[in-house]
Amino acid sequence: MATFNTLDEVAQAVRQCTRCPLHAHRTHAVPGEGPDRARVMLIGEAPGYYEDRSGRPFVGAAGRFLNHLLELAGLPRDQVFITNIVKCRPPRNRDPKPEEIKACQVYLQAQLCLIDPPVIVTLGRFAMGYFLPEARISWVHGKPYRVQHRWVVPMYHPAAGLYREALRPVLEEDFRNLGRWLAEMFRS
Ligand code: URA
Ligand code: SF4
Repeated sequence: MATFNTLDEVAQAVRQCTRCPLHAHRTHAVPGEGPDRARVMLIGEAPGYYEDRSGRPFVGAAGRFLNHLLELAGLPRDQVFITNIVKCRPPRNRDPKPEEIKACQVYLQAQLCLIDPPVIVTLGRFAMGYFLPEARISWVHGKPYRVQHRWVVPMYHPAAGLYREALRPVLEEDFRNLGRWLAEMFRS
C-alpha cells in the first residue's frame, strides 16, 4: 500500500486516482481541505455537483448550511479539516457503493494518520457507518462516542436539514452542543 508523507501527496494521488469506477465520471476529484494540525475533522458522504465542478468540499447548498452550523459551534471553517468518504462524485449523486468506499479508504486512512484529529464529526450515515457500523443515527446523533483513541460525533447530514424541515433545529442544537463540548474538552 502507498504511504503518504503529506496531505498534499494524498491530494495529488486522489486527483490522479483510478482505483474505482467513479473516476470516469468526475470533473474534479475532491480530496478535502483544511490545516494539517486540525483538531476536528468533518467527514461527509461524497462530492455533489458544485464540489465536482470546483474540486472543493461542501461548497453547494449543503455547504452553506454547514457553514451556518459551524458558526453555531464556534468552529472557524478554516480551522477544521473537511473531507468525504469518497472523493469523486457518484453519477446523479447516487449513494456510494460499498466497493467504492472500500477502494477510497486508503486516502481517508492516510488523512486520519497525518492529521490525527482527536475529534471526528461524521455527516450522514455513510461516514457514521465507517466508524460506528451498528449505530442508528436517530438514536446517536450529536453524542460523542469513544472509538479507539478518538472521539466520533455522528451528525445528521446537513443536506437532510435542507429537505427535512424538522431536522433543521435538531442539527442546529447538535452543533451548538458540539461547540460547548469542544470548549470543555480543549479547555487548558
Ligand atoms: N455533500 C457531501 O456529503 N459532501 C460534500 O462535499 C458536499 C455535499
Ligand atoms: Fe479513487 Fe476514491 Fe475517486 Fe474512486 S472515489 S476514483 S477510489 S479517489
